[in-house]
Order: sequence, then structure tokens, then C-alpha cells
Amino acid sequence: MDEIFTMDLKEQIKTEILPQHIAVIMDGNGRWAKKQGAMRVFGHRNAIQSVRETAEGCAELGVKFLTLYAFSTENWNRPAIEVEALMQLLVSTIRSETKTLTKNNIRLATIGDTSGLPKSCQKELAEAMEETKDNTRMTLTLALNYGGRWELVEAAKRIAQMAADGQIKPEQVSEQLINSLLATHDMPDPDLLIRTSGELRISNFLLWQLAYSEIYITDVLWPDFRKKDLHEAIIAYQQRERRFGKVLS
Ligand code: IPE
Ligand code: IPE
Ligand code: MG
Repeated sequence: MDEIFTMDLKEQIKTEILPQHIAVIMDGNGRWAKKQGAMRVFGHRNAIQSVRETAEGCAELGVKFLTLYAFSTENWNRPAIEVEALMQLLVSTIRSETKTLTKNNIRLATIGDTSGLPKSCQKELAEAMEETKDNTRMTLTLALNYGGRWELVEAAKRIAQMAADGQIKPEQVSEQLINSLLATHDMPDPDLLIRTSGELRISNFLLWQLAYSEIYITDVLWPDFRKKDLHEAIIAYQQRERRFGKVLS
């Protein structure tokens, strides 16, 4: 029954207006665990299946870019034991999933200050990115130690340096230049932002890039998020009218 329902939803998706880039704020792992009287870490562990289904769901539809907010610059302020568990989970997941990424022709990338992650994570990420670098079906980007403000500060520093070195004049600073200095310089802006677990905020994610993204917020907690939820989000997106500030007749 579930299967049939999933198929129905998928068939409603129009391939001509598919979002090219979907970004997700994967939220609600802690609440999911709490609901069953378990530790927060239990929620993080159960989030992996949601990541798998979302990545697979996007790839099979033909979405070119999927960006997942996995760890924010503010998440360091959580209890050390939770941060540690998240980092370990990152290492073990990358280790176990890289083969599947390759099988599905998915390239792994990161945005964020990965130099601030534990060495074991950096190593695992570097290996997985190297192994998947020629895959062409979809780019799966993990935002790790990422913050929109961090990214903009980094871009501002680079521009200040270029100006100090006499490479550019103030009037040459443009949207294009700023874009080119962001961690996302090689991808289009997200067409669709999904946030799970009902919170109505951006939480320092892709501040510049979300300027004209359609926002879809669901009460589903991230560990419960399945392909059918992804399909629902895309169908809702396809019913929107994207105006980009213009008046449409
Ligand atoms: C999202 O779930 C995972 C990360 C931010 C790493 P949370 O851990 O934020 O779960 P809630 O929001 O407390 O339920
Ligand atoms: C946003 O979720 C960060 C990630 C999903 C990695 P948070 O749970 O950290 O955000 P707030 O605290 O609810 O804003
Ligand atoms: Mg949260």
C-alpha cells in the first residue's frame, strides 16, 4: 500500500520543472529520540536512513545538487558528548556509504570550514571526495562546520585582500565576484529549501544563496523523513509561482 502511494506521488512530479538544487535543514533528531525516551544520539543515528532516501530520491528524479546541513558553526555549543558522537557518526557513515555513492554515480562535496573538524573526519571526507570526484549524476554536498555568516566573512576577507593588493577597485565588487568567492561557487542557488520538524528559521544556512529559494517546512522530524516526504515537498514546490520580484501576467 505504502509503495503504491509513493509511486503515485512520484508520478505527479513534472520533470520539466524539477528543482536543480535542493537544500535541506535536517532538523528534529533530538526531538525524535526524546519522543521514544532515548538519548539524542539515537536520533542522529536514525537520521542516516533519511539521508540515504533523500539522496537516492533526488538522484533518481534527476535533481543535480543536494545540499544537506549536517553541522553548523553554532552546533559546537552543544554538549561535548553529542558533538563527539556526531563526528564519529560522520566518519562511520562516510566509510560505509561511499561505495553506494559510487554505485549511484553521486559525487560527494563539502561546504564549511572542514579544517575545524577532527582529523579523522577530514581524512575520511578527503578519501570519499577523491573516490567520487568523477561521478556525474548528482553532487551531494554536506555542510559541515558551515555558517552563512562565516562564509560571507571569508568572502569579505578575500575581497579586502584583493583590494589591498591593488587587484580590484571598490566599484568592481559585484554580485558575481561575491558569488565566485562563496563555498557554493560551483553550484546554482537552491531552488527549494526544505526544513524538517517545523522550525520557521534559516539557522545561518546559505544566507546569500537562499535569496529567491522556495521554502518548504514540514512538521515531519528528520529521522522520519522518507522518499514520499521528498516527493511531497517537490510537488508543493512545483505548485508555487516563482516571481523573482517581477509581475507575472
Ligand atoms: C538536527 O537535529 C541535527 C543537527 C543539528 C546536527 P537536532 O539535533 O537539532 O534535533 P532537535 O532540533 O534538537 O530536535
Ligand atoms: C540547524 O539546526 C543546523 C543543522 C541542521 C545542522 P539546529 O537545530 O542547530 O538549529 P536551531 O538551533 O534550531 O536554530
Ligand atoms: Mg535542531
